[in-house]
Amino acid sequence: MSRYSRIAGTGGYLPREVVTNDDLAMRVETSDEWIVERTGIRRRHIAAADETASSMAEIAARQALEAAAIDPHDLDLIILATSSPDRVFPSTACLLQQRLGVRSCAAFDVQAACSGFIFALSIADQYISAGNANRVLVVGTEVNSRSVDWEDRSTCILFGDGAGAVVLESSTEPGIMSTHIHSDGHYQDLLYLPNPASNGEGSDESRTIRMQGSEVFKVAVNTLGRIVDETLEQNGLQKSDVDWLVPHQANIRIIAATAKKLQLPMERVVVTVDEQGNTSSASIPLAFDEAVRDGRIRRGQTVLMEAFGGGFAWGSALLRY
Ligand code: UT7
Repeated sequence: MSRYSRIAGTGGYLPREVVTNDDLAMRVETSDEWIVERTGIRRRHIAAADETASSMAEIAARQALEAAAIDPHDLDLIILATSSPDRVFPSTACLLQQRLGVRSCAAFDVQAACSGFIFALSIADQYISAGNANRVLVVGTEVNSRSVDWEDRSTCILFGDGAGAVVLESSTEPGIMSTHIHSDGHYQDLLYLPNPASNGEGSDESRTIRMQGSEVFKVAVNTLGRIVDETLEQNGLQKSDVDWLVPHQANIRIIAATAKKLQLPMERVVVTVDEQGNTSSASIPLAFDEAVRDGRIRRGQTVLMEAFGGGFAWGSALLRY
């Protein structure tokens, strides 16, 4: 009998503090009008001083476990996507494991920048469908605010903090129909976060996000268009078979271009970028959780998730919820 993974529960967490475009306009030369028009972002949530990737992950994970009615002790695997880990090592997944009071199951991080959640979901799906795990916690969590240059108007307006989680469990029916992941390290200089601790003597780089926005934008739109085709083709589906698009939330114009490619009206696209900005690997599970909890995404519907980010690394997942 075939084995698949299905999403049994979802969770999400956003820090309490909200920073609006007007707040940012008091710090750098920008305006609410420019930010909304070019990005679709209106506000973003920023972690408090005592919050970290693992503390936010715990809240999202506990919610997802509760929704799935699964005890943390019954998890076979914890996979956590982040580019803003509490520590370089141990992994933030290990810190989350300790917070959940669990021992022994494998826990590890995945780093694929904004596509981290899709990469983590893909690994979890392989473990379950191969019969090597039955219950896997998959988390995306980011404190981007600590890696942002708050004086750089071209990046500081974009990012936010938060965490999202799903619990996958084995099933005899899909569930996840396919995942697709790709990378191309030749684009590493267009979008990156330096690590001064590893750069050797003479490095004067600070640890803040660098991006050549308009270059990233162009590649993102083209690449996401291609991965939509690849995903539908592998499953023998038509564009009209997709009920919901749950995209990575970097820019409303990128999201709209992918929706157009799918001939999907924006009412069928889960958009959170206006309220949350770009939360990197947390954006897809946060958006998915929101739309499941408010009743938009229902059991039996077909959902396409897609992401693009630093690396470049990009990917998609097609699933029946
Ligand atoms: O999540 C990972 C993947 N990341 C992405 O997918 C992000 C992709 N890139 C983008 O979303 C967009 O490129 C941005 C939103 C980052 C920038 O939008 P853009 O339309 O590509 O603007 P631009 O970078 O080409 O800049 C246009 C102008 C420039 O001025 P000049 O040179 O034309 O005089 C910038 O200096 O806008 C200026 N500008 C700003 N003006 C007001 C840049 N940032 C701001 C700002 N406020 N915050």
